[in-house]
Amino acid sequence: MNLFDVYPSFNVEPVKGEGPYIWDKNGKKYVDFYGGHAVMSIGHSHPHYVQKIESQLRQLGFYSNSTQNPLQEAFAQKLTQMSGYSDYRLFLCNTGAEANESAFTLASHQTGRRKILTFTKGFHGRTSAARSVTDLPKVASVNAQHEVAKIPLNDLYAVQKHLQTQEFAAVIIEGVQGFGGVYVPNSQFVEQLAQVCKATQTVLILDEIQSGYGRTGKFFAHQYTSIRPDVITMAKGMGNGFPIGGMLISPEFTPWKGMLGTTFGGNHLACVAGLAVLEIIAQENLMRNAEKVGQYLKQKLDTIAGIKEVRGKGLMIGLEFDFPVQALREQLLYEHQVFTGISGTHVLRILPPLTITPHDADWLVNALQSVLCQTVINY
Ligand SMILES: Cc1ncc(COP(=O)(O)O)c(C=O)c1O
Repeated sequence: MNLFDVYPSFNVEPVKGEGPYIWDKNGKKYVDFYGGHAVMSIGHSHPHYVQKIESQLRQLGFYSNSTQNPLQEAFAQKLTQMSGYSDYRLFLCNTGAEANESAFTLASHQTGRRKILTFTKGFHGRTSAARSVTDLPKVASVNAQHEVAKIPLNDLYAVQKHLQTQEFAAVIIEGVQGFGGVYVPNSQFVEQLAQVCKATQTVLILDEIQSGYGRTGKFFAHQYTSIRPDVITMAKGMGNGFPIGGMLISPEFTPWKGMLGTTFGGNHLACVAGLAVLEIIAQENLMRNAEKVGQYLKQKLDTIAGIKEVRGKGLMIGLEFDFPVQALREQLLYEHQVFTGISGTHVLRILPPLTITPHDADWLVNALQSVLCQTVINY
């Protein structure tokens, strides 16, 4: 049977990972500035993470949410403590899209409304409502039934115009727009958005699925502002490859039995994986590392001729070019063994594990310098 072929992919087969490095089946070593799409927070095969999952698997891998699982409480306690949201509650699921989908359900129950306000260039997942608030072409008709308005990022007037109708259940905004090109929303705009949400009883959902979990140097990217969103959605870096999603929910929401649910979410293996990730982020001071190495990297990247703009925060960096970057990305990978991500056609997305060192950062910088120098000579 053949695979249903939907992913553009590189001709590389990774078989081993350690920290920020990957080896392919021929033994060639790569440095991972893509993080498997912002997933690798603590790096590949961290021994503490491996040991915790291994020993839990020998004990009990899974049982359903219809029984007691104190690992969930331990996870919630550690997560709320590290994020600074100790009065919020945790709902666990499996993916980012599921977290956002659950956030919309919550918002709709809370407000009795159904419309959602979202931003152009936003990405929130590929399930039904999540897909409809995502700024991608080719929406399937089954996903197009949702009532959604899309407005430009940082446009306060458009926010006010829509929310004053009091018809919107929620606004969803990324901590930093990833897929759309690595755009950091203006802090003042985010604060005013939170005020308008409060005044109009609209639920503010902060999608920190890509920008959260220490990636920008704070636990969540919106913590560079003073706001406290109603719901914060998470996934990617939460499990370091183990599929975990979740939301932190403000005390304003009251749960009732059956309000939300999932078969696999919060299972025993997921909880120990999630706990191990948080322990390593704390023990190895990875948020500080993301901030420090991110600054170092940005300073170096700023000096490279040929990059139109360097933007982002911490270890979520976008490099915009005047030309489509697919060939550049391939050269970085095949000639310099550097994995990078992409946003649209003209932006390289840099999303390494939070463990990278300045030495690793130099690998990327030197590779970029070398490829861009060749590009200029070829022109
Ligand atoms: C900001 C954001 N939200 C939601 C999602 C969807 O997450 P998942 O692919 O785990 O469903 C993504 C995935 O790239 C994302 O970047």
